Amino acid sequence: MCSVVGYLGSKDASLFLLEGLSRLEYRGYDSAGIACMSDNELKIVKERGYLSALEHCVYRQGCMGNVGIGHTRWATHGKATQNNAHPHTDCNNKVAVVHNGIIENSSQLIGQLKNDDHTFSSQTDTEVIAHLIATLQNKHNDLNDLVVDLVAQLDGAYAFLALLKDYSETMIAVRNQSPLCIGIGDDEIFVASDVLAFAHYTKNVIFLPDQTFALLVKNTVKVFSFDGQAIMIEPQEVMVDHQIAQKDSYQHFMLKELYEQPQAIINTIKSLPAQFEEQNKKQISYDLTQIEQIHFIACGTSRHTCLIVQHFFSFIANIKTTVHLSSEFVHEQLFDTPNTWYIFVSQSGETADTLHALRHVKKETTACTMAIVNVAFSTLAREVDLVLCTKAGPEVAVASTKTFTASIALLYWLANKCAHKKELINNNEFDNVANQLTHASNVLQQSLDNYRDTITFSLASKLIDAPYYIFLGRQQGHTLAKEAALKAQELAYMPALAVAAGELKHGPLALIEDGLPVIIFSSQNAEVYKKIISNVQEVKARGAYVLAIIFTGQDELATLADKSFVIASVTPLLEPIAMVSVMQYLVYCIAQQRGCAIDKPRNLAKSVTVE
Ligand code: M6R
Repeated sequence: MCSVVGYLGSKDASLFLLEGLSRLEYRGYDSAGIACMSDNELKIVKERGYLSALEHCVYRQGCMGNVGIGHTRWATHGKATQNNAHPHTDCNNKVAVVHNGIIENSSQLIGQLKNDDHTFSSQTDTEVIAHLIATLQNKHNDLNDLVVDLVAQLDGAYAFLALLKDYSETMIAVRNQSPLCIGIGDDEIFVASDVLAFAHYTKNVIFLPDQTFALLVKNTVKVFSFDGQAIMIEPQEVMVDHQIAQKDSYQHFMLKELYEQPQAIINTIKSLPAQFEEQNKKQISYDLTQIEQIHFIACGTSRHTCLIVQHFFSFIANIKTTVHLSSEFVHEQLFDTPNTWYIFVSQSGETADTLHALRHVKKETTACTMAIVNVAFSTLAREVDLVLCTKAGPEVAVASTKTFTASIALLYWLANKCAHKKELINNNEFDNVANQLTHASNVLQQSLDNYRDTITFSLASKLIDAPYYIFLGRQQGHTLAKEAALKAQELAYMPALAVAAGELKHGPLALIEDGLPVIIFSSQNAEVYKKIISNVQEVKARGAYVLAIIFTGQDELATLADKSFVIASVTPLLEPIAMVSVMQYLVYCIAQQRGCAIDKPRNLAKSVTVE
């Protein structure tokens, strides 16, 4: 998604802008640009494609100045062209704007401005901000008044930075929902969508609160609410691991991250007792024994985590659970029922739909909110009552792998913690949780090691030309089927269906034809296993090519399937951790052999900061 960066200081701004943008590359983009104030003129350089293309243009065309703004764009309004790349300007090049988010009433505003003889040169919603600022300059002599008037006219979620030729030493930074933070350095100020852009220069950070703006002049940051009232905010010290993740000897980040799963699980479970105590010190009163209901809310793979862990809380801790898709949940009517918790799961902690869902809960209820995130200083982590972090380390590949399994492990521990507090399990049982998770993560590793060669050298090539895939499962296996179908779509650009095996005869069976790959996730539960056998027989009878991920001793299924992957037994509820790596690696290889961009699949971004 789009990222913004800004710099004010005594150095050449373009150096930080390019570096800062490269540190935010993980968010995904299709074009990039910068603007610097140079001798009271706005100099703008922008280019389609990777940052390296922009860098060449900056070298060739020059873009020097001590005040500057930069942007990487992920197209929403208008194609990924040089023209649509940010910064955008008004008719007279007196205002430059970079923006992350969506101006929802842009068409209406553009219409009004065109009537006043403004000419627009891009198809973006952002350009309207530059034109509006230019118009408002005729009305206001004071920048504070100008911004108050400006934000009153804009609808949507946005974070933007603006430079004005008439205020050549000032930068305007505005935040409504989309994240924006300001780093206070020695004699210099940094601005960015994510602290990672400048964390190696300063640890003193102001996270701009929602619906505020800042006027930045050399060494001075003044923050105001949207109605123009000054707000005092002390910078906070932020300890962020700012080392840039390296691929090491792996061909892709995804492969490295897939292999890092056991360590991510172990680091996470080791950290939990201390993290939990830390949350206990918070002023909010919460009591795990009183929770009667949990709503889990997330998107994509994080939602699959929720679908898996909901069973932990109901079976182990006797708590009623419901799972919601963030983007749908925001439209739901909420009831402020007592002893209800809302748990938001997000790798990035910046997913716009999930943040919106959190704000919906906070507005409509008094319930306790909790975040499970991998990025400790993310917006979600800052806005909830309680937060627990996975310790998976930075996840760079767009496809989530290690944060999926680490968050399952974290929530397995938490469900057991609730059960322990409620005296539903004894001390020994609770002490055994870490062992169960460690064993499951060892099985994940072994399965990967056992089947890596077969998948790489013989299996993936058999599947790359299939028209589509069907993934089947029951219970946890059905959720894994959903995760597999999502991975096949995003990584290999393959249409894939996830079907609850019991639903086959209610429709999807009609799709089965000779040679169609059907991948089934088994279960250690005897009842479920029996039914899975029948389902495999049904698809085999119609010519499907069956791959089965099964557990030790499930010989009948092994005989039926064309190819099976045998996984060692684990605690039944932890089957998803044990089974997932074979599926992840299989889809990885298919994507690789189909020539797909594994770490940065087309059209997708790691952090989805627009709804
Ligand atoms: O950062 P989040 O966990 O909130 O992201 C949610 C989804 O966008 C994410 O899980 C997405 O589905 C992954 N790319 C899937 O691999």
